[in-house]
Amino acid sequence: MKQASLTLIKQDTISKVDPRIFGSFLEHLGRAIYGGIYEPGHPAADEMGFRRDVLDLVRKLRVPIVRYPGGNFVSGYCWEDGIGPKELRPRRTELAWGTIETNQVGIDEFQEWARRAGTQVMMAVNLGTRGPSEAKDLVEYCNHPGGSKYSDLRIQNGFAAPFGIHTWCLGNEMDGPWQMCAKTAEEYGRTAREAAKLMKWVDPSIELVACGSSGSNMPTFGRWESTVLEHTYEYADYISLHTYYGNREEDTADYLANTLDMDYFIRSVIAACDYTGVICRSKKKINLSFDEWNVWFHSNAQDKEIPRWSIAPHQLEDIYTFEDALLVGGMLITLFNHADRVKIACLAQLVNVIAPIMTQNGGSAWAQTIFYPFLHASQYGRGTVLHPIMQSQKYDSRRYTDVPYVDTASVWDEDTGEVTVFALNRCLEDEALLQMSFREFGSLYLKEHLVLEHSDLMAVNTCEAPNRVAPSSKTPVSVQENEAQIPLSPHSWNVLRFAPVKAQ
Ligand code: AHR
Repeated sequence: MKQASLTLIKQDTISKVDPRIFGSFLEHLGRAIYGGIYEPGHPAADEMGFRRDVLDLVRKLRVPIVRYPGGNFVSGYCWEDGIGPKELRPRRTELAWGTIETNQVGIDEFQEWARRAGTQVMMAVNLGTRGPSEAKDLVEYCNHPGGSKYSDLRIQNGFAAPFGIHTWCLGNEMDGPWQMCAKTAEEYGRTAREAAKLMKWVDPSIELVACGSSGSNMPTFGRWESTVLEHTYEYADYISLHTYYGNREEDTADYLANTLDMDYFIRSVIAACDYTGVICRSKKKINLSFDEWNVWFHSNAQDKEIPRWSIAPHQLEDIYTFEDALLVGGMLITLFNHADRVKIACLAQLVNVIAPIMTQNGGSAWAQTIFYPFLHASQYGRGTVLHPIMQSQKYDSRRYTDVPYVDTASVWDEDTGEVTVFALNRCLEDEALLQMSFREFGSLYLKEHLVLEHSDLMAVNTCEAPNRVAPSSKTPVSVQENEAQIPLSPHSWNVLRFAPVKAQ
């Protein structure tokens, strides 16, 4: 049995959780929109063509914000194509993913879908093939009350009230050679600054996310962040981070250790932000928007077979294993433990495309394995993150040293007095014993111990067997004088919900 200990002190906190870390992402890509959230004629479709079964699953996840419409797609997008009468909307060759975009869903419909899903839109503007002018027009269309060209167009299209979109992304992955009209840091920094300036002049209440490197493996990583921020410091509020992992080497111990890389990535970007703040002689703090994170590799080979110019093909449809759910749990723990600087995070993506929710065209919708850690984090992770005073036995893997077998994040809900501990046991063979100790919380008991465990790391959920990997409850151990010893199954994701003992 592996040994780990966790001490939590009520006053030793990291930060309040910004609920937007439970955000997600929907791109015009594959079947995310068409066949995902929107399928007119489906038995579950509402009067606008939105699938109610998908809406139910999205609402269950309590996703507060959804990034839209891309992704790589946004760098060629003409938002005006997707408004007005549907029969007049053009079909376009979509160069990011080699498909045909029908524009049957645009900003108006998406805003309406978001309202029905109980979420907010995080809108990205095209700084690839387009620039500051079209970006500021889009802010005017979405947020200006009326009496101007684009706000009146929105009203004419049936939306009298402004959409009030608060959070905007200044393009997407502009350092990537795969991006339409990719830019150097200087070029992007200048363009982003001018776009930001005009967008905030139209609506000073908006918040802006500047593009960071598209990954920490990019050759310009670090320098890109500082150069871009030097140009945009005055106007940007956040810088973006993107990362995807995959178990291509079939090495689970190493794969589950990728959170160490994610942690290093976050620390590096914080350092770049703060360094640039010094250079800019600014007291303002730039926070982090981890607006694309997930596992992505299962579908890489099959995507090469997709015929060019297909409409809504089965693209990036990763079928997630139980092992992937463990890594997603670990990534959530990493995000929680950086809640002081990571204020937005988007699980990429939400439906069908590298997503927790899958659908069949004309058929059912179900939860993939990764749905569950995300659900738990969103359901029980609202409150204040406590600093984990943590010790764990460690292992070395192919690329990482000193990997703790047990990782945790803990969130205290001030209103209910509950403390939720999210715990990942990475050990593939053994149980781990987590020695817990609480200080200054009053008397607590373990109200619930949820676990995601499976004997087969490769187990998946499918439309035929949608519940093969699903959480279950363990008998909660007793807490004596605010100490508890909690066994964690080998390779498992755990949610330990401690609640105050009510005075008699
Ligand atoms: O989420 C899939 C793609 O990954 C996005 O379009 C892009 O931003 C990233 O490279």
